[in-house]
Amino acid sequence: MNKPKNDTFLRALLRQPTEHTPVWLMRQAGRYLPEYCETRRRAGSFMDLCRNPQLATEVTLQPLARYDLDAAILFSDILTVPDAMGLGLYFVEGEGPKFERPLREEWEIRNLSAPDPGVELRYVMDAVAEIRRALGNSVPLIGFSGSPFTLACYMIEGGASDDFRTIKAMLYDRPDLLHHVLEVNAGAVTAYLNAQIESGAQAVMIFDTWGGALSHRAYREFSLAYMERIVDGLVREHGGARIPCIVFTKGGGQWLEEIAAIGCDAVGLDWTTDIGAARKRVGDKVALQGNLDPVALFAQPEKIAQEACAILDAYGPGSGHVFNLGHGISQFTPPEHVTALVNAVHEHSRKLHQI
Ligand code: CP3
Repeated sequence: MNKPKNDTFLRALLRQPTEHTPVWLMRQAGRYLPEYCETRRRAGSFMDLCRNPQLATEVTLQPLARYDLDAAILFSDILTVPDAMGLGLYFVEGEGPKFERPLREEWEIRNLSAPDPGVELRYVMDAVAEIRRALGNSVPLIGFSGSPFTLACYMIEGGASDDFRTIKAMLYDRPDLLHHVLEVNAGAVTAYLNAQIESGAQAVMIFDTWGGALSHRAYREFSLAYMERIVDGLVREHGGARIPCIVFTKGGGQWLEEIAAIGCDAVGLDWTTDIGAARKRVGDKVALQGNLDPVALFAQPEKIAQEACAILDAYGPGSGHVFNLGHGISQFTPPEHVTALVNAVHEHSRKLHQI
């Protein structure tokens, strides 16, 4: 039902045969595109843009108009969930996201509760529905959320951090409190992703940007276990179609087998992992998504194409690979370099797929 005309992305996630390797880019709608900056100016601020379903739809479609991408991703942010919990999200130019009321006191943590996605996050569901209408049956739409641990990093630190000393002190001294936050977050994320699926998201991705900052033992207990709960609670079929789920822990290459075992359909890789070796390690358990160094996009177009081909060749023939960057695209990326990347992935990968 309502199958997109180009469903290469969905088929690759389910390791079904495709004609080429699909490609999309994390943060594909963003500040490297002048048309994005223009729409953001009209919206007033980044959060006003996220809260306006028409404008969120406009920016979601902008990279698809420029490039032959195989998927769209909802324009929003992972921090809309803690914002809806009442923490007061705001952005300071050059400093990134911040919360007015970070979680510091035990009573604040005990009072934390999951928002109702149909109420406090209604604007996200409206954007999902509006984007689906605008996409027609062209390419699939990806919904997303932050992982419970990554959300907790911002909620407890109050913003970006380079050492995570507040949340890590809590992890070591008061693990009970951190577990409580993660439990609330896991419930909130499950309900939020399921609501996105109900509203029309055709695949979902969990961004665990900071799980890789944890120690080996702590990763499983404080990040992976909660992502497993989410995956267990996700709606896996909607409108007669399977809804694939991608889990991405930045810096998580060493835990690949464990991530692949939580029931997700695909694992995202950052650029520090050899995708060929990763494929051998996960076997036919999951698809892989990644993993060009986003900074490679500052090289000359011929070099970008070469690097993309090296990743495609390292993965090797057959389905199960979704090409992406190893993290979000930089705001300083020359937009025409993305054209070189997308075209190289499509052209070169045809040789690796024979159906
Ligand atoms: O991929 C996409 O195109 C979809 C949109 C998307 C955004 N943020 C838009 C955005 C997605 C999937 C995210 C996820 C996100 N947000 C993550 C996880 C992925 C990752 O990059 O690690 C994280 C950690 C955040 C939190 C966040 N929001 C940060 C660190 C920033 C950047 C702050 C800065 O000033 O550089 C944001 C803001 C943000 N989210 C922007 C965009 C396009 C730029 C804001 C702007 O237009 O001013």
